Amino acid sequence: MNRLLALAVIGLTQSLVAGDEEEGRSVLLLYKKMTPMSGFSVGQPFNVTLSIFNRGQGDAYSLVINDDNWKSDKFRVVAGANNFTLDYLNHGESHVHEFTVVPIKKAWHRVRPARMAFIDGVEGENTVMHMSNNLPDIRIAAEKDLLEESLLSFGRVITLNTVQTKKGWMYASSGVVLFLLVQLFRIAKQVLKQRRHLRALDDLTKKGS
Ligand SMILES: *[C@@H]1O[C@H](CO)[C@@H](O)[C@H](O)[C@H]1NC(C)=O
Ligand SMILES: *[C@@H]1O[C@H](CO)[C@@H](O)[C@H](O)[C@H]1NC(C)=O
Repeated sequence: MNRLLALAVIGLTQSLVAGDEEEGRSVLLLYKKMTPMSGFSVGQPFNVTLSIFNRGQGDAYSLVINDDNWKSDKFRVVAGANNFTLDYLNHGESHVHEFTVVPIKKAWHRVRPARMAFIDGVEGENTVMHMSNNLPDIRIAAEKDLLEESLLSFGRVITLNTVQTKKGWMYASSGVVLFLLVQLFRIAKQVLKQRRHLRALDDLTKKGS
């Protein structure tokens, strides 16, 4: 009976110690995001944001984050860096890192999670590996029609930036057609009125003579 009690006490203290250790750990989350999330095309930059949160009770050290997903055969990293390091990330803190990528080739692209390595606690010895969330594959379209682009930007200038898209132009031109129809109708009405006038005048002069 005593032995059983002793075992139970040992078990309890062990789990308490383990619990204490759990409490002192850093718990890191790595979140990868792209802005925009769709409509990718050659030459159009987009941003990649990597956010790290330390949701644990302990601090993390020597963080190395790699987002080696933008190889030079398909992309250029034009601002910021896809790899970066942090000396530490204290518990309860977060860090946001952003870089800009330009696609250089029409392609389907598998977006892979970013990877992070860190050391848990100032006395930590093991490197902990962590991956970010997954994102769907993206389709990179061919370069937008340059003529269409320049026509649209010309249109933007002459309409003082009120008409910005092809759709916008379709609405605008149906507006113009409507306006012309109304004008035509008014002119026709004027002509008819004038004709009636002339006829009346004619009748008068006939009667007069
Ligand atoms: C990317 O980030 C930069 C700097 O924060 C910003 O100026 C730019 O508009 C962003 N581009 C996109 C496509 O969100
Ligand atoms: C980013 O890190 C990866 C993996 O360590 C490496 O292969 C790649 O060359 C690095 N890219 C840049 C632009 O530093």
